[in-house]
Amino acid sequence: MKAAESSPSAPSPAVDAAITHALFWLVAGNAMGTMIAVLLLLPGLNRLLGEWTYGRWMMVHMNTALYGWCSLPMLGFLFRTYGVERSALRLWGRPVVWLWSAALAVGCYSWLSGTSSGKLFLDWSGYARILFPLTMGALWLLLVFAFLGQRRNAEQARWRAAAAKLIGLAVLAAVPFALFYASSPDLYPAFNPDSGGPTGASQLESSLGMVLIVLVLPFGIARRLPGHARTLSLAWVLLAVEAAFCALLGRADASHRMPAQYIGLGSILLWLPLVPLYYRGFAWNCETRQWKQVFLCWWGLLVVSGWIFFLPGVLDRFKFTDGLVGHSLTAVAGFLTALLVFVMTQLIGDEHAWIFNSKWSFYAWNLGVLAYVMVMTAAGWIEGGNPGFTMAPGPLHHVLYFVRLLTGLAMLAASVEWWIAATQPFGRMRRYQTSHAGAIAA
Ligand code: HEM
Repeated sequence: MKAAESSPSAPSPAVDAAITHALFWLVAGNAMGTMIAVLLLLPGLNRLLGEWTYGRWMMVHMNTALYGWCSLPMLGFLFRTYGVERSALRLWGRPVVWLWSAALAVGCYSWLSGTSSGKLFLDWSGYARILFPLTMGALWLLLVFAFLGQRRNAEQARWRAAAAKLIGLAVLAAVPFALFYASSPDLYPAFNPDSGGPTGASQLESSLGMVLIVLVLPFGIARRLPGHARTLSLAWVLLAVEAAFCALLGRADASHRMPAQYIGLGSILLWLPLVPLYYRGFAWNCETRQWKQVFLCWWGLLVVSGWIFFLPGVLDRFKFTDGLVGHSLTAVAGFLTALLVFVMTQLIGDEHAWIFNSKWSFYAWNLGVLAYVMVMTAAGWIEGGNPGFTMAPGPLHHVLYFVRLLTGLAMLAASVEWWIAATQPFGRMRRYQTSHAGAIAA
């Protein structure tokens, strides 16, 4: 029986499905990104697309990046953390992943058809607004049952781990409802006046949310090493202090001009050395090394550049320009993608880590994103001083946008390689597990 159960570092059907679906959405999102980059260079091509023009594809590009590529690896993480793979319900992981992708596909169709709440990343409406939260509910139920099954196992019943998982379940229970209600145009307008958007008073709040995720992740997938307890405690205390500071700051002023706001956001710089130290406190598989290093580099770039961009004077020039498109890419395609690939290499184990470790795709991705960010930062800086640069594009604008297209092609090629590679060994693994489980049952 033991042989049929997956070892903690081997891919199981549920984790395998989460990873291959995530990579599918990454390829799809990158292909759309490349297409909209062409449309920005040659706007006349929009006429060939009927009603499905730039504005609609742009939403699908962003939503597939967030709800497909960035979310599905986290399903793999949750399957591992809550022991879905080892539970009697392990065969339900794959259907939940398929349901997730199907709900997202329905969302894509609705956005392309022009149905939208108008809210960035919350543009769920119509059927999709019901189907996607329901899928989240199905995932939650699977985690709950897997958790309850584990609790019967005395070895798993260490109360601290169990309490942390219970808190996790309580938080996750709220997400489908929050998504449903926040997607309503009636709750608050497309631009929330209370927060000032991603460059307003809630900037520290959302940055700390990211830190929280970074701190939680290792617990589900790696063993703690002795001798690092102090660093780990320091990190959690600092997070609590910053959260308290954030609450004191309030949300009354949605700008970025009060010294308390930009000095407060500067406190995020403390995480520059602390995150690498924190990650040293866990035992990682050998083959995760290059993605761990690059995720920490992106982390450094994101934190420093994010704070500089927020400063009065700098943000005034960058706001609503291509500079912030570059910043978004630093966050999601640079930092978050490297973190997700690092997590996935840990989930699949050293034996399968080659999927993400080919040298050329590693460099094609990371240098591609870096070049994209540099080009957009330059375009944004020029645009901030002279809006005509974007409104009436000249030769320099075309050159920068063409280079952006090339960087997109490099990213697309890297993601295609990962996706093709991932579907091969997992296919073999699936066949192995199915035949092996069949033999044991017989
Ligand atoms: C993991 C991969 C990617 C992620 C997470 C991602 C994410 C995003 C996000 C969040 C935005 C909105 C930026 C903003 O308005 O602040 C955006 C816009 C855009 N992205 Fe991507 N993207 C990815 C890959 C690509 C690729 C490969 C290309 C190809 C060149 C691309 C081209 C674009 C274009 C053209 C825009 C629109 C910019 C504008 O409206 O001026 N993206 N992307």
